[in-house]
Parts: sequence; C-alpha cells; structure tokens
Amino acid sequence: MADPLLQVQGVSKTFELGGALWARRWLHALDHVDLEIQRGQTLGIVGETGSGKSTVCRIVLGLVRPSAGRVIFDDQDITVLPAAQMRRVRRQMQAVFQDTSSAFNPRQTVREALLAPLEVHHVGSGEHRLDLVQEALQHVGLDVSFLDRHPHMLSGGQRQRVAIARAIILRPSLVVADEPTSALDVSVQARILNLFKEIQRELRLAYLFVSHNLGVIRYVSDVVAVMYLGRVVEAGPVERVFSAPQHPYTRALLEAIPHADPAKRQRDVPILGEIPSAYRMPSGCRFHSRCPVAMEICAREDPPLYPLGGGHHAACLWHDSRFSSGAPSWITVPHAPGVTT
Ligand SMILES: Nc1ncnc2c1ncn2[C@@H]1O[C@H](COP(=O)(O)OP(=O)(O)OP(=O)(O)O)[C@@H](O)[C@H]1O
Ligand SMILES: [Mg+2]
Repeated sequence: MADPLLQVQGVSKTFELGGALWARRWLHALDHVDLEIQRGQTLGIVGETGSGKSTVCRIVLGLVRPSAGRVIFDDQDITVLPAAQMRRVRRQMQAVFQDTSSAFNPRQTVREALLAPLEVHHVGSGEHRLDLVQEALQHVGLDVSFLDRHPHMLSGGQRQRVAIARAIILRPSLVVADEPTSALDVSVQARILNLFKEIQRELRLAYLFVSHNLGVIRYVSDVVAVMYLGRVVEAGPVERVFSAPQHPYTRALLEAIPHADPAKRQRDVPILGEIPSAYRMPSGCRFHSRCPVAMEICAREDPPLYPLGGGHHAACLWHDSRFSSGAPSWITVPHAPGVTT
C-alpha cells in the first residue's frame, strides 16, 4: 500500500539574477515539480546538467525555499515550519553529497565527525554515543581503526563511507543523496551503490537519489523521475520507464547507451545537441527544439504529464488523444485516460 514519506507538490523555484531594475533576469530552475517517495523506497532523479536535480534536493532538505508549492514530509508541510520544528525534521532527513573532500572539517577525526550529529541532536551520552559511532562504522564496512583518522587521509570511497555513516547515525527515515558516487572510480562506485542498498534493507531507509548516470539510477531506484529544464518530463516504476520509455527525451537518453558493451552501459547522460538556456525557456514543450519526433504544435502547446497507468506519466503531446493515432510505434499507451479532445 502507498505510504508516502515525502511529497513534493507543485514546487517551483525562480532565482533572481540581479541586473538593472528594468532588465532584471529570472532563472526558472524548477517549474511545478511533483514527486513522491514511499517509506523504505528509492526515488531516482536523472537529467542533464542544469535540469534542477540539486535544487530539488536543497528544497527537500530545507536549505532553499521554494517560490511556490509545498513539501510534505511525514504529513507535515516543512516549507512553513518554524526553525525549532525544522530541526526535529532534519534529524529524520540526512544528506550525502558528491564532494567528499569538502564534506568534513579537516581538523576532525572520524570519531569526532560521527559524534557531531549525536551532540547536535542530544542523542545518548558518553559510552552510548561511542557505541552508536562504532555501530555506524560497522554498517558502512569500516573497522574501529578508522576512528582516529582524519577524513582527508582516507580514499574517496572510504570518505564516502564515513559520510554515509554520519548520515545514518541518527537513524533518519530519508537520505538525500546528490550524485554520491559520481566522483568515485567505477569499481568503487559499484561497492558504494551496493552499500546504499544493503543499508536501505537493514534500516528501511528511503532515498532521494540523484545521478547523471542512467545505469546507476536503474540499479538503485524503485521509481524514477526524468527531469528536463526544471520539469519532470517522465516518471514511473523504474523498469517500466527504462524498458518502454514514453517521452522522446527519455528514449533518446536510453538509446544513446550502447547495450552491447557493459562497460559503457554506465555512461553519463549524453548530450543531444544544445540544451536551451534556462533564462529563455522555449515556448510550448520545452524539449521541442531537440525532439526527433516533434510536431508543429509542440512549439506552441506545453504538454501536461499524461497518466499512462501503473504510476507511469509522460509529458508528451503524442499521448494526447488528438494526436495518438499518428504516434510513433514506441508510444505504447496511446490513449491517456481522462484526456479529452
Ligand atoms: N543559487 C542559485 N542562483 C542562481 N541560479 C541557480 C542557483 N542554484 C541553481 N541555479 C540554476 O538553476 C538551474 C538548476 O540548477 P541545479 O543545480 O539544480 O541543476 P542540476 O540538475 O543539479 O545540475 P548538475 O547536473 O550540473 O548538478 C541551473 O540553471 C542553475 O544554474
Ligand atoms: Mg546538481
């Protein structure tokens, strides 16, 4: 049964970029984004650079305020919570980022880095805290000999393990992981991804997991959201979306991966021509200028996310019943329920 832990509802984010009053520039980083994460599950977000993935993470973590919309975590709208209550929520919601070298204070030992969240949130004391630190280290596959080391003396993979230990030590219900393996060697990456999965099973964590890498997203996610220029253009159960993508953008991303060569399967999102500027959003469907199957109307009409059944949605006019009779063959669900002509 659906048991949402986190719901992002109609979230938009506009950054004001300054300039003279009469020439002020606005950047639309997110435009009416809806996302949902069930308890204990992983929502993967994939998309090219600048699509808004990190902005989603920052808004969920309460580090950036949305310009519009709500973020419901554990049945509370956290965008309007007073600071004191937000602190309590933050205990349930931890983060792991890409850059492990700036994630730690270089003067701290691993022990101190792991004790810090316990101190901040007044969890346990003395001996008990040390037990929790050792337990967290064990969870991430590091032994007690690491306690007195400084994070900058560790390898990138070991540092990311410590960052994960720090994220789980308070037993959160959600971990936001923004490109947590992107800076690591491929072999280390695989081990860290497996660690994320093991910890999830043991602690029933939910993840908001961001990556450029389609292989990574497919491996870790239950549900995937594909973002393009601040919008979710396709979302659904990961195997459905990857085996039968219903948006030309997702399809193009997947087609650009050479399936025959497993070494290349884990490639980053390929760039298909120029990404339009987020300052000057294209009219109509924002993917139309790069879309291989665009219709003339796509330059004028902005498609909604059409429901395709089974939790699968795609924002492409080929799913509109006005056009679906002429749709490309890979559009497998031509008639979206509830869409009238
Ligand atoms: N603080 C900010 N001020 C102005 N613009 C910003 C700010 N933060 C993000 N942006 C812009 O918002 C858009 C989305 O940025 P974001 O970092 O969320 O993208 P991303 O999908 O995480 O990209 P990447 O894959 O490169 O990490 C980009 O155009 C970015 O330049
Ligand atoms: Mg980012």
